[in-house]
Amino acid sequence: MRAAVNAARKERKSVGFVPTMGNLHSGHLELVKIARRHADFVVVSIYVNPTQFGANEDLDAYPSTPEEDARALAEYGADLLFLPGDEVMYPGKIEDQTVVTVPGMGERYCGQDRPVHFNGVTTVVSRLFNMVQPDVAVFGKKDYQQLAIIRKMVGDLAYPVEVVGVDTVRDENGLALSSRNGYLTKAQLKTGALLQQTLQSMASQLVENGLTKALIAQLEKESAIELENAGFEPHYITVCRQVDLLPAQEGDKKLVILAAAVLGKARLIDNLEVGL
Ligand code: PAF
Repeated sequence: MRAAVNAARKERKSVGFVPTMGNLHSGHLELVKIARRHADFVVVSIYVNPTQFGANEDLDAYPSTPEEDARALAEYGADLLFLPGDEVMYPGKIEDQTVVTVPGMGERYCGQDRPVHFNGVTTVVSRLFNMVQPDVAVFGKKDYQQLAIIRKMVGDLAYPVEVVGVDTVRDENGLALSSRNGYLTKAQLKTGALLQQTLQSMASQLVENGLTKALIAQLEKESAIELENAGFEPHYITVCRQVDLLPAQEGDKKLVILAAAVLGKARLIDNLEVGL
């Protein structure tokens, strides 16, 4: 991979990078398309990173479709598919590995539900950045908290990498595409779309009525109840500031509503940016 990237650099090509865990869908392919716009040579990695899964999570069940992924990537114009194994990503004992932590931002929301998750993400992304040495790295906005944490890591550790966030790709009902949607039944796939609809309804009410502490509390509570009634188990629904993902305060203009809820066997996350 290094030799191929170095050869591209010798030809004065810029390098774009899309890290993934495979089982690629149109959302990932959109990231490749955007990476192509920003760089001359595009590397895509597929690595199901064990350190970002908690003990009771779906590491062993995580879908793997490497042949289909390779075909789709070739079609979408990726130049290099990097498929490292555990021995490449974590040589030696995993528990002796240096860990990259973004404190604060990594501990809230998904970080509360999944305490090891973001340390696993930042550690593996940091290592992948050092391996690939991209000029530009592309991530989906569906994982909004992940994207914010990676931007923070890149700033804090002075990585010379431009991070580009890409809008979420959705199915015909509005459900955000995710490899974990494969765990849902047909009926649940339809129900899943309610997550985004709920966020949209919260956004309309914030735009109409203005941001107050009381309205935020009311909307967060009512939305959780609506989702519960529809069969979800909501983990959090929260109105935050885009800049640092802290809870929104009166006067904030650039907001994002973040949500996570379990539906059947899948833990779904979604978000909606709101400008006031
Ligand atoms: O978003 C993902 O697929 C993963 O968290 C990432 C960024 C590839 C790190 O393993």
